[in-house]
Amino acid sequence: MTFEQEGTNVLQASKPSTVVVFMLVVLVELWRSPATGVDTLDTLETIIITGASRGIGAATARRLAGPNRRLILLARSEDKLAALCDEINAQGATAEHLGADLSSVELAAEAASTLVERTEHVDALVLNAGMSNDKLFDNSTMDDIEYELGVNYMAPVTLLHSLMPLLEASGGSAVFVGSLTALMPFPSNATYAASKAALLALVRSLRVEMDESGVHFGIVLPGATETEATAGKSSIVPHMSADKVAKAIERCLDNREGVIIPGLGNRLAATFFQEFPELSEKLLKPLKTKLIPGFDGYSKS
Ligand SMILES: NC(=O)c1ccc[n+]([C@@H]2O[C@H](COP(=O)([O-])OP(=O)(O)OC[C@H]3O[C@@H](n4cnc5c(N)ncnc54)[C@H](OP(=O)(O)O)[C@@H]3O)[C@@H](O)[C@H]2O)c1
Repeated sequence: MTFEQEGTNVLQASKPSTVVVFMLVVLVELWRSPATGVDTLDTLETIIITGASRGIGAATARRLAGPNRRLILLARSEDKLAALCDEINAQGATAEHLGADLSSVELAAEAASTLVERTEHVDALVLNAGMSNDKLFDNSTMDDIEYELGVNYMAPVTLLHSLMPLLEASGGSAVFVGSLTALMPFPSNATYAASKAALLALVRSLRVEMDESGVHFGIVLPGATETEATAGKSSIVPHMSADKVAKAIERCLDNREGVIIPGLGNRLAATFFQEFPELSEKLLKPLKTKLIPGFDGYSKS
């Protein structure tokens, strides 16, 4: 059976039960009351945030800065981290920075060793640093792909693995920043989407495997967000602010939640992409250059 035939069959045979489930999800999302918290935020004293030099990571640092809290901010741009630490410290909070390149297991392990030397106590690890090659698969080298997977998947896994004893000792949290693209096709960024899907699978499995460990694992899956990463990329999809994503990260820590997709539109899109995979691909194919930020279509260079 060809793919087109498969898609047609799915369209024709869309089960009424699937439509009912989708409508129920829509209703629940529309009337959902805010999650009731377990209010752990005030107990978090030491929080490490990767990729804090700008965008979602910097917004998260600003949001989490508070009295009796120590923030340790990581990224490569130490000048930007230093400026952010000055801003946060001037408000009476405590922030310090660590210049670190997180593009390989070796470099991430080095950063983890420095963190362990600096602090014997960690309450939360926000694994936010990430990047995308923004390249078609056909035009990517294996070095491109390895680098992207290094920053987006292997580095957070290395940091988590190295710092797990400290999180187990504190009963702390590890919150990853994934992406809505873990749940949907993302042309021109297929390997980026795969790296984010890997994080989602990791978190979901660890939540069950380590239920008795006392460690909380969560992941926030933002849709398009206004940051330097999306600046200048045309798309008709509305972008949310970095602070809105930071707020979701804060909520994930506070309530010890599992998977958070910030924004009703993004939650509905996620449900649609999962419930109707063939139909969503059929719709996305003719619209992809309008919907996907920065995607100009397929061309082999
Ligand atoms: N913006 C969006 O639309 C969007 C949507 C979904 C998910 N996300 C995810 O959200 C997270 C933050 O993205 P953003 O939009 O805030 O991006 P951004 O503005 O480009 O910031 C990325 C951060 O990651 C750090 N980083 C990148 N490569 C690194 C490396 N090799 N080593 C250490 N740090 C590195 C950067 O710092 P330095 O350059 O100083 O090292 C920067 O602080 C990423 O995981 C991204 O995949 C973003």
